[in-house]
Amino acid sequence: MINMNAKYRSTLEAVSKLIPFEPEICIVLGSGLGDFADKVETVKSIPTSSLPEYPKSTVQGHQGFLHFAEYKKKKILIVQGRIHFYEGYSISQCVLPVFLASKLNCKNILLTNAAGGVNPIFHPGDLMLASSFNGVNLKKEITELIGLTGLNERNGFIDFPSSEMGKKIKTAALEEKIELREGVYWITKGPSYETPAEIRMVRRYGGDAVGMSTVHESYYASYMGMKAASISCITNYAAGLSDQKLSHAEVMETAEKVKMNFERLVKKSIELF
Ligand code: HPA
Repeated sequence: MINMNAKYRSTLEAVSKLIPFEPEICIVLGSGLGDFADKVETVKSIPTSSLPEYPKSTVQGHQGFLHFAEYKKKKILIVQGRIHFYEGYSISQCVLPVFLASKLNCKNILLTNAAGGVNPIFHPGDLMLASSFNGVNLKKEITELIGLTGLNERNGFIDFPSSEMGKKIKTAALEEKIELREGVYWITKGPSYETPAEIRMVRRYGGDAVGMSTVHESYYASYMGMKAASISCITNYAAGLSDQKLSHAEVMETAEKVKMNFERLVKKSIELF
C-alpha cells in the first residue's frame, strides 16, 4: 500500500498555501478538451511545474495547470494536464490530482477523456457518459495503491461511477438538447492505440468506447469518498472500424470540433451538481 499522505506531503502543502478556496467540483480535462479552462472565470492558476513531486505531462494538448475557477457560484478545480500510464508514470502519480482534490475537501469529480468509439453506432464527435468501466486488469495497481483490504474498508464502490452525478449529466444533456450516448468505458494502458483484433475482443466483452485513463482515477476518487463520473468525447472510430489510420492528430481535431457541445454539457452539469 502506498502512503500517499507521506509521499505527496510537500505537494499538498505547496498547493494548500496557494489555493483561493476549497473546490466543490473537480474537472479533469481530457486530450484536446483543455480549452475548457478558458471558458470559466479563473481565480487562480497554479502551474503544476511549480509543485514539488508533481509529474510533468508529456502529451501534446495536456498543459500542466491546476485552475481554481468559478462558474455560477460553484467553486471548481480544473485539472489541465493529465498524467497517464503510457507516459511511464506509476499509479500513485496518475491519481495525484485526485488525491489533491480530495485532500482539499472536494466531493465531486468529473473525469473527461478522449476515447475511440467501439460501439458501431457511435461516431466521432459523440459524447458518452460512462455507465460502467472495464478493461485491462488494474487490480495489481489498485492493490498497490490502496492495499488488499482497501475496497472493503470503504463502501465497496457500490456507486461507481456515481449514478447521482450520471443522472444530473443526463438532465444537463436534455436541457442543452445535446445527444448523449451512454456506455462502458474500456481502459487500455497503451502506449499505442489498440489493434483491430483487440477492439473486436473489447466489443465482444461489452466495451463501447476505449481510452487510456479515467478508470483508476475513478476508483481512487471513490476510495477517497468522492463521487466520480466520466464523460468521453468519441474522437475516432476504434482501430479496425474505419479505413482511416488512427492518430493523435485526429483525436485532437475531433475534440476541437466537439468542444462547443462539450463545454455546454459540462457547464450545465456543473450547475446541477
Ligand atoms: N484508443 C485508445 N485511446 C484513445 C483512442 C483510441 O482509439 N482515441 C482517443 N483515445
